[in-house]
Amino acid sequence: MLHLSHFVVFIVFPILFLSDSIQWTNFTQNSYFMKNSDLLAIAKTYGDPVYVYDSEKIISQFNRLTNAFNTVKHLKLNYAAKALSNIAILKLMNSLGSGLDTVSIQEVQLGLLAGFEPSSIIFTPNGVSLEEIEEASSLGVRINIDNLSILEQFGSKHPNVPVCIRINPHVMAGGNANISVGHIDSKFGISIHQIPHLLRIVSVTNMNINGIHMHTGSDILDIDVFLYASEILFDTAKNFKNLDFIDFGSGFKVPYKEGDIETNIEELGSKLSTRFNDFCKEYGKDLTLAFEPGKFLVSDAGSFLAKVNVVKQTTSTVFASIDTGFNHLIRPMLYGSEHHIENISNENGRERFYSVVGYICETDTFANNRRISEITEGDILSFKNAGAYCFTMASNYNSRFRPPEVLWHNGEAVLIRARETFEDLTKNQVDVKDLFKKEAPVLTE
Ligand SMILES: Cc1ncc(COP(=O)(O)O)c(C=O)c1O
Repeated sequence: MLHLSHFVVFIVFPILFLSDSIQWTNFTQNSYFMKNSDLLAIAKTYGDPVYVYDSEKIISQFNRLTNAFNTVKHLKLNYAAKALSNIAILKLMNSLGSGLDTVSIQEVQLGLLAGFEPSSIIFTPNGVSLEEIEEASSLGVRINIDNLSILEQFGSKHPNVPVCIRINPHVMAGGNANISVGHIDSKFGISIHQIPHLLRIVSVTNMNINGIHMHTGSDILDIDVFLYASEILFDTAKNFKNLDFIDFGSGFKVPYKEGDIETNIEELGSKLSTRFNDFCKEYGKDLTLAFEPGKFLVSDAGSFLAKVNVVKQTTSTVFASIDTGFNHLIRPMLYGSEHHIENISNENGRERFYSVVGYICETDTFANNRRISEITEGDILSFKNAGAYCFTMASNYNSRFRPPEVLWHNGEAVLIRARETFEDLTKNQVDVKDLFKKEAPVLTE
């Protein structure tokens, strides 16, 4: 049973047990990571700005996570498509044996297009209509429901369709308020305090609950967050007799800048696997342990390349203005995220302080007073950790084209999305022809 004291301990001391601070070696010392000379060649061929992803890095992260849980009999990683949904990336995930975590009917359709079996796709939306859930269900994908209203409606109409339930465990976890989604004020999941109501709905509709799920937030530093919230999930799971899987969501933190800490996946794997295996014995069945990682799999694989248009010395600062903005990479402005920036045109130059800014017509700052190798106009800057929530959040704001995406695979660059054109900007707009005629102004006396 859970007691109030659990919540207090959890909320008051959420980050006491940080994983070790890691050495910042990823960018320069991984033999499999693309070299800066490769990136420069890609910028030259495909122009800038451009997103580049290293498939080997994605594969190595997938294997690392799988290995961390190698004592669990049935493990399923469902890649969170929202992080990076290019079809080539989805195909790569499918080839690795990953499932797919989706949040919209369009992501479901992209997954099917990429070749995923419907049963390998799980639909975990929030606040969508019953019709959208029914459409996904009719395509054969697994359904995860996160509110009692839709649960009751769906269960009444489709009692034979197995359903997973997203629980809100009421834990405060995540790197910032926008990505902390498992706390008591969050819109996500069904509160653990509503389990009695949930059980009544399940019993009245006679529906079958085949999975229990939670996702508490992204950028969680502390593995005890996972372990603590897992206990809540195990407690909840005992209420359901026909489970096939328990889905622990995601939220693994990856390092973004020098000295950053990351979730200690190996320690989490060892501790959670032991606990999960014990739970399965207690439950009387070998359940599947599922995760839905996004950032962990693709963040570090991505680089975003942009050219410096102007170096502008003001009385207080040196600005490096680049040929992109928050229309293409919004995380710094949206979350205050700090992406490591390298001047790959002058890797070993003397370091100076720069504020790196975009071309959007409002505050558009990527980095303030950041130490970067001396910049000359025309240099290419490389933003690291640009794989997750970067291109997928890009827009056409200021009527700019979204950049191309290139996959670095087996030592070769493959274009996986072309740069947009003026036609892309206008193709869905309707020409109103002569709706507005030029009229002579009416003069008042
Ligand atoms: C339900 C759900 N699952 C998985 C993820 C992926 O999280 P991350 O990218 O931190 O691994 C998210 C991210 O928003 C999410 O909302």
